[in-house]
Amino acid sequence: MSATIIDGKAFAANVRAQVAEHVTRLKEEQNITPGLAVVLVGEDPASQVYVRSKGKMTVEVGMNSFEHKLEADTSEYDLLALIDQLNNDPTIHGILVQLPLPGHLNSDLVINSIDPAKDVDGFHISNVGLLGTGQKSMVPCTPLGSLMMLRDHHGSLSGLNAVVVGRSNIVGKPMAQLLLGDSCTVTIAHSRTKDLAEVCRGADILVAAVGRPEMIPGDWVKPGATVIDVGINRIPHPEKEGKTKLVGDVHYESAAEVAGAITPVPGGVGPMTIACLLANTLTACCRANGLTEPEGLTA
Ligand code: GUN
Repeated sequence: MSATIIDGKAFAANVRAQVAEHVTRLKEEQNITPGLAVVLVGEDPASQVYVRSKGKMTVEVGMNSFEHKLEADTSEYDLLALIDQLNNDPTIHGILVQLPLPGHLNSDLVINSIDPAKDVDGFHISNVGLLGTGQKSMVPCTPLGSLMMLRDHHGSLSGLNAVVVGRSNIVGKPMAQLLLGDSCTVTIAHSRTKDLAEVCRGADILVAAVGRPEMIPGDWVKPGATVIDVGINRIPHPEKEGKTKLVGDVHYESAAEVAGAITPVPGGVGPMTIACLLANTLTACCRANGLTEPEGLTA
């Protein structure tokens, strides 16, 4: 059997188009333009690429983009002062502080200083608690994008066995909460899990979010399962000397032989993350103004 490929690139383009349409209506009917502020501290090359991409796509859907680039040695005091200013700026509906932060800054303190209503990453402890108790919250972008693709593919997820490999605060834990919210039977597995292969083989939905290139082979995948590969790992190209290649946490070729559906890397979960960031910014803007939230773009 050969798996259906879940086209995250096309899915994300569709989400962005829906966001853009809603933004146009907000401007015309309410004279409101959603605004997203992205804060980058230091010059981490990967973070610079992400932030540029976020800014470009924010503008493409008709929103205002505000980029704040701070020196690597910025003090916690100055960073918190900027966040306070953004929290109190009514033209800004979403705030994202790009992670990782330089080592001298306390990431938890910084993230928890963002107004939870503007926390479009969904990392603030209030949003984590709201998600965990099934209340309205801001939902982390990568898990939200993964959930949207799963719902689109399956319709109802109720009663399915879901295994999430990885227990990060950014992906693994919120993904598990979302799957539980959709009535899956959820297992969170990780590097210490005993007989990980056997645990994975029980999954109707297998979400890989460990950050280890191609660690999940096809024979860990249940025939017909849906595989969501969150990993984005750059490895030396196996055939082209001096070149690199992006791979996921799943060994794609062997898994695609067994799975019912699978997300590729690149072009799977990756593009959904920024699309969901834009969707979250729109949601935050609607909530801030007491307006109806966009349908299908929230958890
Ligand atoms: N760094 C890598 N991924 C993310 C993300 O989703 N949000 C933020 N703020 N930083 C990141």
